[in-house]
Amino acid sequence: MAATQTNNQRSIERTHLSENNASSDEVSRELIEGLQRTHKFINPKFFYDAHGSTLFEQITTLPEYYPTRTELALLSMHNNEIADCIGQKQVLIEPGAGSCSKVRRLLPSLQPRCFIPIDISAEFLTSSANQLQQTFPNVDVRPIAGDMSCNYDMPDKYKFLRKTVFYPGSTIGNYEPEEALEFLKHVHGQVGSNGGLLIGVDLQKDRDVLHQAYNDTQGVTALFNINILNHCNQLIDTNFDVSCFEHVAFYNAQACRIEMHLESLADQTVNVGDEIVFIAEGERIHTEHSYKYTLETFTRMAEDAGFKAVKHWVDGAGLFSLQYFTAI
Ligand code: TRP
Repeated sequence: MAATQTNNQRSIERTHLSENNASSDEVSRELIEGLQRTHKFINPKFFYDAHGSTLFEQITTLPEYYPTRTELALLSMHNNEIADCIGQKQVLIEPGAGSCSKVRRLLPSLQPRCFIPIDISAEFLTSSANQLQQTFPNVDVRPIAGDMSCNYDMPDKYKFLRKTVFYPGSTIGNYEPEEALEFLKHVHGQVGSNGGLLIGVDLQKDRDVLHQAYNDTQGVTALFNINILNHCNQLIDTNFDVSCFEHVAFYNAQACRIEMHLESLADQTVNVGDEIVFIAEGERIHTEHSYKYTLETFTRMAEDAGFKAVKHWVDGAGLFSLQYFTAI
């Protein structure tokens, strides 16, 4: 009996291990490929280890980082009007829902039949979905663990209800414009004709305001950007010395985007996989772009994806927008 138990335990551990290995191989390959490019790159999804997620939470409360609080204020201030636009008895879907904190401001007035939060972090999602279900017992909360473009079956009883995708946070700005268009087309397919999209989009503005939002005086943003190197050191066999890099963020007005980089402070070598990669003083590793739109440029893109602009809400200072579209 004892021996059987031990064997079972071992086989569970082994299965677990081999699954982890398979995915960590993919992770290494992706990171190594990016670091061996002429223009070095680390995918921004690697920002979010436990420490990175805490630092990002801190960023969202910084005085210079206007997007989070402005979007939350817009959701609170206009939630009745937003609900009137979207209509009741809907299915609401939120890709990348995470803590589900923004949707809390919408649900009291919107009262959808069903809310489907989607997130890759299954554990985190389950706990935030459970809490949400308790606060809103009349909304059927059905979390799905997966990435934003994963396919899932809509429960039969909701198949014929209107669907609306909620995509806050201006995460759309972190896609390259071609990818953003593809994503919007995917959403269009997901909600079907007559479905809706409520999306948070950060706006073009005074470059100093933008610059400060990504270069705060307390240096939290710098720590967040540089932490991606610590995360790499944990995930793969790199030996980045984080003290040899500097956070660089600036607005590229021609491309309408904030660019985030890590700049090498010295000539240095780093082990990447089986290779030794040379990084020259002043050379940059690119981490993220954050595109800024105008109401017009974003509407044009949404129209190219098959949507029709219905209404938008912008704060008094013109910093951030919430935009509602229906699918044609
Ligand atoms: N997605 C956020 C944004 O574009 C992420 C972010 C905020 C960020 N500050 C940063 C990414 C600094 C890298 C560095 O606003």
